[in-house]
Amino acid sequence: MFRLPFLRKSTHGHSRNGDGSDPDALISLRGVTKSYATPAGEFQALKGVDLHVARGEFVAVIGKSGSGKSTLSNMITGIDRPTMGEVVVAGTPVHKLREGQIAEWRGRNVGVVFQFFQLLPTLTVLENILLPMDFCNMFSTRERKDRALHLLEAVEMVDHAGKLPTALSGGQQQRVAIARALANDPAIVAADEPTGNLDSRTADAVFHLFENLVGEGKTILMVTHDEDMARRVTRTVTIADGQIASDTGSDRARVVNAATYGLPHQAPAQHTVAVFSGAARLSEGAHA
Ligand SMILES: Nc1ncnc2c1ncn2[C@@H]1O[C@H](COP(=O)(O)OP(=O)(O)OP(=O)(O)O)[C@@H](O)[C@H]1O
Ligand SMILES: [Mg+2]
Repeated sequence: MFRLPFLRKSTHGHSRNGDGSDPDALISLRGVTKSYATPAGEFQALKGVDLHVARGEFVAVIGKSGSGKSTLSNMITGIDRPTMGEVVVAGTPVHKLREGQIAEWRGRNVGVVFQFFQLLPTLTVLENILLPMDFCNMFSTRERKDRALHLLEAVEMVDHAGKLPTALSGGQQQRVAIARALANDPAIVAADEPTGNLDSRTADAVFHLFENLVGEGKTILMVTHDEDMARRVTRTVTIADGQIASDTGSDRARVVNAATYGLPHQAPAQHTVAVFSGAARLSEGAHA
């Protein structure tokens, strides 16, 4: 049986985070406001957003164009900073990190998947996966190549390891981008319209891979326009005009956040092999 030793099982201990919050609230946004200065004056892309995401949740963020979905995702990944409010991810107050610290923190804690893949065009597929590992130094130099090849195998792209991204189809590039997002074994994957540029079959396969990552204990936040996909996740957050208009999981999140420390935590199902079968379907979709 093929195992994925590079995917660490999530730990479910019940120690408190550094800020005293429940460790199950892996992502916490409190009163997050993001303002932009525009020629027409200040524009608020986010208006006092409170959001708590527990470990192991698969959250879809939906809403009209311009509603603030990407801005919200960028707050969580540290790609952008709030004007006001707090963003605490895995116990780290991301809003307080300095520029140089954010890149390293992100590299270790959040795998980012972009709508347009954003692979580096001058690096091969393999080098694209190695880059975040070289940057964060979490694995020994010897381990890195093996790990990169395992990840490429998991998304059925190992045969393309030596190619440049321009030689790949969109679905293939997105599979490489997902492998890259997992390079440092992050607890969280944040994906902004990861299937926006894929045909429906490939999109479905990418979605299935995400489902399997959630089965592995990863926490996924996925911005999507696809309402079908949004229905298939564990929680859907709808953004309208910079605010959370509805949240199917808010009750659960409240329970988790208010939980007494020491309550037994239900570990997610372990589907090590399912990631691989998801990848197999992924490749079927991509070659369709
Ligand atoms: N750098 C910026 N300067 C000024 N306004 C901005 C900036 N970035 C985003 N905005 C505005 O903030 C609002 C939210 O943008 P955001 O990119 O989060 O929307 P979105 O929900 O992701 O939309 P889409 O579905 O089109 O990707 C939009 O009105 C946008 O024009
Ligand atoms: Mg967007």
